[in-house]
Amino acid sequence: MARDYARLAAHLSPERCSALLCDGFVVVDDWFGAAWADALRGELLELYESGLLSRNKTRFASPTGAALLVSKPHIFEADLHDAPLRALFGSSLREFGDWFSGSSCAFAASLAAALPALQLGAGDRSRTVKLQVNEGGGAFPWHYDNPGPPNARALTLLVYLNPDWQPGDGGELELCPFLGAPVSVPPLHDRAVLFLSDRLLHRVTPSSTRRLAVTTWFDGAAVNGKDDVGLCLPPSALADVHATASMLRRSAVQRSLSRAVYADEYELSLRECMQGAQGEADMLAAHYAHIQAVQRNAPLARLVAALRHLKPQMPNAGDE
Ligand code: FE2
Repeated sequence: MARDYARLAAHLSPERCSALLCDGFVVVDDWFGAAWADALRGELLELYESGLLSRNKTRFASPTGAALLVSKPHIFEADLHDAPLRALFGSSLREFGDWFSGSSCAFAASLAAALPALQLGAGDRSRTVKLQVNEGGGAFPWHYDNPGPPNARALTLLVYLNPDWQPGDGGELELCPFLGAPVSVPPLHDRAVLFLSDRLLHRVTPSSTRRLAVTTWFDGAAVNGKDDVGLCLPPSALADVHATASMLRRSAVQRSLSRAVYADEYELSLRECMQGAQGEADMLAAHYAHIQAVQRNAPLARLVAALRHLKPQMPNAGDE
């Protein structure tokens, strides 16, 4: 299989890189090229049908601080750092072995040169590759790929491998620039989405058909600095809520307020994802506990209420 490495670096035009830093995301079609994308899809399907993907496992903290592990229904995954999969790199995982150890490494160097502000790392440990099959019926709730320390993800690269996807199949990626208009991205074959891991709220809508995706995360040294983690607002934050919103749109510190500002959307997407499965009650309890903690802080609660007035209409908002 001929792999056109040069096309990946060529995707990183100055215009796209500026758009990525400004808007938080870019969408690029024909990412790998048809033959390469087909080969990756074939390998991922074989992996799934051989039973080598595992049920999704998601860690989260309960309201008491206990670490809980839940499975999002209908989602099967593999992390290419896992030793049993790496043992297959030269044989049944030839394409993904190349992506993990060769192509994505070269692409990471191109990314680092094109986006120096992200201070992307070098080496295998600075990248994570996750293969994912949604067997139909699965969804993901609103979240950030980098929720805070010690996570080091700076950039997310999603590539979809779904040649048969049709409108109505679901499984769209919904991107929500903070307090901006949401954007729905159909998971079309060989379509890539690059976005800033620490400041782009997103979810996946329920999918009615099988949906394949490959996610590569690139770690960076510039994430989760003091200003990204500690919400420190001046007394004028509420008086000039538009200026506050503008600051939050550009900063990863928006994560401190996102769940409260989008409380109803988080809850609905969480229910759509878990569908009553084990762990849903705990996840909802953690969600409510967070909202209640914000409500107990009167100045913060007033700011959240003001920010909520700036939200455009969200998909599904008011459906319940
Ligand atoms: Fe994500």
